[in-house]
Amino acid sequence: MEANGYVAALDIGTSEIKLVVGELLGGTLNILAEGCAPSAGVKRGAVVDIDKTVQAIKQAVEHAEAALGDQIRSVYVAIEGEHIQIAPCHGIASVKREDQEITDTDVIEVINSAQVMRLPDEMSVIDVIPSSFTVDQQTGVVDPRGMLGYRLEMHGKMVTGSKTILHSIRRSIERAGLKLEGFVLGNLALGMSAASVDEIDLGIGLVDIGHEKTTVSVFYRGDLVYSYILPVGGDHMTRDLVYKLNCKYQDAKVAKEEYGLALEEMADASEGFSFTNINGEVTFEPQSEISYVLEARIEEMFTLVLNRVQKVGVPTLSGGYLLCGGAAALPGIQELATRVMGQKTRLYQPSSIGVRHPKYATAVGVLKYVLMSDHHVSKSRLEKPDDRVAVANPDGTSQTGNVQDHDDDVVRDDRETKNGFGRLMEKLFGV
Ligand SMILES: Nc1ncnc2c1ncn2[C@@H]1O[C@H](COP(=O)(O)OP(=O)(O)OP(=O)(O)O)[C@@H](O)[C@H]1O
Ligand SMILES: [Mg+2]
Repeated sequence: MEANGYVAALDIGTSEIKLVVGELLGGTLNILAEGCAPSAGVKRGAVVDIDKTVQAIKQAVEHAEAALGDQIRSVYVAIEGEHIQIAPCHGIASVKREDQEITDTDVIEVINSAQVMRLPDEMSVIDVIPSSFTVDQQTGVVDPRGMLGYRLEMHGKMVTGSKTILHSIRRSIERAGLKLEGFVLGNLALGMSAASVDEIDLGIGLVDIGHEKTTVSVFYRGDLVYSYILPVGGDHMTRDLVYKLNCKYQDAKVAKEEYGLALEEMADASEGFSFTNINGEVTFEPQSEISYVLEARIEEMFTLVLNRVQKVGVPTLSGGYLLCGGAAALPGIQELATRVMGQKTRLYQPSSIGVRHPKYATAVGVLKYVLMSDHHVSKSRLEKPDDRVAVANPDGTSQTGNVQDHDDDVVRDDRETKNGFGRLMEKLFGV
């Protein structure tokens, strides 16, 4: 967090780098600035060219700083991709104070103790997310601070990711002149800020349609139970139009973003796109033809999403689906999703001026996650006894100590943990 209380969140996308800066005003998120820059050097959440990524980050930061009128020194970064793994974890600590009252220090210690486990060499800890605590015999405790006890246990989730991928992101941030405050699991933060506690309890599917990928997340019984990355996004829609219109990529992008619809039947007969095709001929393509191509691609994409979600084992997603990500800005996409999925679907885009586009959903979700969790039990908001821990260790390392394996208790407590997580969210986000 910056000295003046605001926080910056960065989403390093394949198509664009999105940076949002905000603060909490009376418990409400107030967006102060945003910066967006074309991305280069990123592929599906992984940095493949550090120099290009650094330049793009700097550009997004400059835009945001111009609006903010201040320098941005540190950022939280959304993390996602195929390399991310989430596993249950469990920590145990004995209460320090002689009067047995549990303090911030005990909670930090129990969270840190959960990180002390054997990991494959190529993986690093990104975050530990507490779901519930046990104080002596009392299970299902949401916030143990102020309670009396001898033994404190934490049940939660550990998020791990590829050391190589995390290192490249960290280097890019640092070389752009920024301090990395921490990594935040993008789809988890997004779900928490975009869906209500009831939706997350009843079951909801989050579909983030980006440039080269679509991230599908299923929340159920208060928990993120499934994530899947479909390697299809807005780029595929544009490429389909390149073939159809026989035009340059940039022209196809304009056709998609300015004239395209996700449902052909919504097309206006008088609308269309004039452009010069690859043979140098001036051409007019009706909106219906552009939309026909887009509809076919998106329908196939939603069918693949549905097939995946049906295999998750969640009986019904009573909360329906939430769409976000840049390509979800296509008019008619909500209606098409409702048809294909057979469930109610709504579009999520942040409501604040300046970020009212579904492409900002992840960056705003991370911002909200960081700011709102500042008043509850998570590492980010606890006093840091030795400054090692923010939301996650920015260097991706785990704490040193005794090695321990996963504990079976975590599995036995699964149902209770999920309920605890739901209550935690309610407190975090009040939704
Ligand atoms: N108004 C619009 N209509 C249709 N598509 C749009 C619109 N605005 C943006 N897009 C598309 O959204 C995609 C970018 O979305 P987003 O910024 O969420 O992706 P990203 O985060 O950069 O990529 P990824 O998540 O795949 O790494 C691009 O393909 C872009 O063409
Ligand atoms: Mg994205």
